[in-house]
Amino acid sequence: MASKPTLVTAALPYANGPVHIGHLAGCYIPADVYVRYLRLKGDDVKFVCGSDEHGVPITLKAKAEGITPQQVVDKYHLMMKKSFEDFGISFDIYSRTSNKIHHETASEFFKTLYEKGKFTEQVTQQYYDEEAKQFLADRYIEGTCPNCGNEKAYGDQCENCGSSLSPSDLINPKSKLSGNSPVLRETKHWFLPLNDYAPWLREYILEGHKHDWKPNVYGQCKSWLDTGDGLQPRAMTRDLDWGVKVPIEGSTGKVLYVWFDAPIGYISATKELLPDSWENYWKNPEARLIHFIGKDNIVFHCIIFPAILKAHGDYIVPENVPANEFLNLEGDKISTSRNWAVWLHEYLNDFPGKQDVLRYTLIATAPETKDNDFTWKDFQARNNNELVAILGNFINRTLVLTGNYFEGKVPAANDLSAADTELIEFLKSSQKQICDSIEKYRLREALAIMMDVARAGNKYLADNEPWKLIKTDENRTATVLKIALEVAAHLTVIMEPFLPHTTTKLRKMLNIETLGWGKSVAGSNLKTGHQLGQAELLFDKIEDEAITAQMNRLENIKNEKKVEAQNSESAEKAEQASTIAPQKAPTSFDDFTKMDIRVGTILEAERVPKTDKLLKLLIDTGIDRRTVVSGIAADFKPEDIIGQQVTILANLEPRKIKGIESQGMILMTEDKDGKLVFVTPSRPVDNGGTVR
Ligand code: MF3
Ligand code: ZN
Repeated sequence: MASKPTLVTAALPYANGPVHIGHLAGCYIPADVYVRYLRLKGDDVKFVCGSDEHGVPITLKAKAEGITPQQVVDKYHLMMKKSFEDFGISFDIYSRTSNKIHHETASEFFKTLYEKGKFTEQVTQQYYDEEAKQFLADRYIEGTCPNCGNEKAYGDQCENCGSSLSPSDLINPKSKLSGNSPVLRETKHWFLPLNDYAPWLREYILEGHKHDWKPNVYGQCKSWLDTGDGLQPRAMTRDLDWGVKVPIEGSTGKVLYVWFDAPIGYISATKELLPDSWENYWKNPEARLIHFIGKDNIVFHCIIFPAILKAHGDYIVPENVPANEFLNLEGDKISTSRNWAVWLHEYLNDFPGKQDVLRYTLIATAPETKDNDFTWKDFQARNNNELVAILGNFINRTLVLTGNYFEGKVPAANDLSAADTELIEFLKSSQKQICDSIEKYRLREALAIMMDVARAGNKYLADNEPWKLIKTDENRTATVLKIALEVAAHLTVIMEPFLPHTTTKLRKMLNIETLGWGKSVAGSNLKTGHQLGQAELLFDKIEDEAITAQMNRLENIKNEKKVEAQNSESAEKAEQASTIAPQKAPTSFDDFTKMDIRVGTILEAERVPKTDKLLKLLIDTGIDRRTVVSGIAADFKPEDIIGQQVTILANLEPRKIKGIESQGMILMTEDKDGKLVFVTPSRPVDNGGTVR
């Protein structure tokens, strides 16, 4: 094989739930299309993946289900592996990070960096849950994102705005274990000084990949590298008991950070697959490393993992990281915990044998450059109007007519008309375009061109009408069907990356082996007299009932969640209203006088878009007019509070909420129903008056 060795990876999914369409569209199908294409071309390519079985997402799931982390990963690993197989994701290996070989590889890797002096050791204050007696790493802690105001940001990341966080960044942090506010405790960890890698990262990404990385990926890296905020020393170890043990003396109770061990899982999986030649894909400067991921994984694959590889020194770094954006479902963000998803195992129950219909829809609507929406109506339309009406119809007519007129044997072509040659030329030129698009990771475009070929075939039949022609000109009919069969044979090649199950069926119907990329356009793949197989339908129509059933299922989920939310909100309010908070610990008069509380008036009020609770207020504080973002929208309409006098904590450190800088806090209390009430002077006074 003359090509460079290429290793394609797809993000190791956390083994904490079944696979849904968001996973497939975000990275597994794109990676699979790309790999199948390279294989058809005859490239030397390997495709590795596996379950990510460490990290807090696993231990939290274990807690939620009342089972051990090992039981969680055993259950979901098998389920996920099966779903990937069912949908034709053609990994060369689907491994798992609980394997011995992975523990050894990750541990060895860490030790090498440690011995080379690549880590700094630091004792820092970390949040600790006194009730659960545990440090709260990463997703064990939740709080308000300092960048966007999302109240459910994790200790390692905000899923709303994509920023990477550390627990100390969170406003109002809460333990996910007990719900309590955590305390700070000292602990020792090993940090990778990412800041040392900044110049190298800038050169590698900003200069090296300005033109070949997707704009969404490059843009995220650039803002990360430009602000420099993310390039702080980052702890590569955690106080947890689930994971790869830190291989250093005096580190009991500590494991490797999951984002240190998981990407090394790509290496372990390659080792497991190719015990003797894995280094050819990892330590060979000629080799190409390509990571397919979703957008929430960009910083880990573009910044942190490359820095880890660079620190080691023997490894190549990714050539490309073609990350997709998110796929939504019927207008809402896909969420495992809210059950807002189409689960693959359920889909297969409802639509047996229709894996390729989903593959087709997900590629056609892939969130390649921006978030995109999956809707059942679109799914139905793509099946009925494209797969059935164009591709399926073309193949079916070609095979049935050949069966009827030529006993299912490939007829001989006679003189070619201009239209015949044009169609054959189109097969060649479109194939080049497909190559081009796939190599640029534009799979939607490639798929559309593939469909254009089927469309051209369909039109060719409609233009030539062999069903009429047969009555007057058998020779010409033979030519037309021969050419249509060549188009069908060509489709078994260009369709393969996208629709592998359908391709297998079509090959059987044509009774041919795989032709190989680039070998299918000669226009003479089918020998005259070649016996075709049995014709069957490639696709069938999806009726409205099946689609309505899916939409009803989602509607029900939405309604259940609404009722749940209402119930818990009123329960929460009732609880708040009925309990009078106990007195807080004593404070000094000095501390009190540090607070600048004064009277102001609301001049303007408007809702903060895309939030339920936030109002953006303009306040006259007597000293200035300033913006304050306040969480009172559930109880007040903007138009009702203009002119309202309020008290404001004016010297609270400004903070950004949903991108708006809030300069202060309005003081509120609550009535017995939990409704918010302004704390105002008992009669109007001048703005700026201080409270003391
Ligand atoms: N488990 C992570 C997620 O689902 C992805 C890990 S990718 C790897 O978001 F690089 F770490 F393997
Ligand atoms: Zn955020």
